[in-house]
Amino acid sequence: MAYTVPKLTDYSTEALEKAADECTAACTAEASEVRTEADLKSFRDRWMARKNGILTQVNDLWLKGAPKEAKRETGIRVNEAKAAVADIIDKAEHLRLELSTAATDSLDISLPGIRRPIGAEHPVARTSREIVAVFQKLGYSVAEGPVVETDYYNFEALNFPPNHPARDTQDTLFIAGQEAKPQRERLLLRTHTSPVQIRTMEKMRPPIRIVIPGTVHRNDPPDASHSPMFHQIEGLAVDTNITFGDLKGTLDHAMKALFGSSVKTHFRPSFFPFTEPSAELYVTCFICGGSGKREGDAPCRPCKQTGWIEVLGCGMVDPNVFEFVKDNGYDPKKVSGFAFGMGVDRLALLKYGVDDIQLFFQGDVRFLEQFG
Ligand code: DAH
Repeated sequence: MAYTVPKLTDYSTEALEKAADECTAACTAEASEVRTEADLKSFRDRWMARKNGILTQVNDLWLKGAPKEAKRETGIRVNEAKAAVADIIDKAEHLRLELSTAATDSLDISLPGIRRPIGAEHPVARTSREIVAVFQKLGYSVAEGPVVETDYYNFEALNFPPNHPARDTQDTLFIAGQEAKPQRERLLLRTHTSPVQIRTMEKMRPPIRIVIPGTVHRNDPPDASHSPMFHQIEGLAVDTNITFGDLKGTLDHAMKALFGSSVKTHFRPSFFPFTEPSAELYVTCFICGGSGKREGDAPCRPCKQTGWIEVLGCGMVDPNVFEFVKDNGYDPKKVSGFAFGMGVDRLALLKYGVDDIQLFFQGDVRFLEQFG
């Protein structure tokens, strides 16, 4: 039979004690029946509801109905009973909270605990961090910039004049509805991390040495070696008397730190609007060691049997670029510098022998957990 609050006729100490004990015992018994969240709610309501909950009834029936001379003692008993009931309900709530993480209906303490697998660093993030760390050891600091960029920073200040054909080499994704703005203010998804060169030089006076990791976008349909979103690391060093020799020494050191001390580097002339002269840096293939061949004379695929792998673009900062930040101490007659930019995803593909860049971005745990 469910407990109901009795009317009291006898207000002797013994009778009050008995009534209070019965009340708390009933509450304890009901608390032990609580299993689910719903049980807990109806249990709490039954006892605590302001309107006609058991404690309210205790108050109304016992205290309000007490003869004058028994009021004080009844008040004390009622308060004790209330505190005891509140305590029981509190415990039931805590227990319920513990149970809800283990099982809904009962707790089997012999079951194994809940395993929370520790995540692994994403191979692209890891490669990026390792490259950045190599340059940090050389005294470079890290800079970042926005992914949504203006035409000015992405192109114009990097010496891609409006309508220059070099812009066509980067299949740019433009933000829609910008036609009313002057061209240099129009927004786009940055196609490279190079705009942060300008942003940093606007803020910091020379000398500077920075590396800039970040996400970039191009309108390239996804395939095994292309993704419309990918990652780059840019580098920039500006000071007085920086030479191409500094560029070669720095990058040769960095490649050995990244791919092993036996790799050789080699520079081939190239073109970028923001560097002059410009070059592409190649390293001896770290898969075949530069022979172009794998075991049993099999052709080495990553270097296309040439023994060399292109890793980045670089060059001496074009004086036209310094002109855009001249007022912040970058007078091209006084300072010189070098810059470089590399694709992190491509390097991660080579480093981990992954043959499809899409795997990096599909979030498939079976792929990612191999890097744990
Ligand atoms: N921004 C170039 C690209 O995305 C890469 C690059 C080349 C960056 C030469 C440089 C550089 O800083 O000097 O293709």
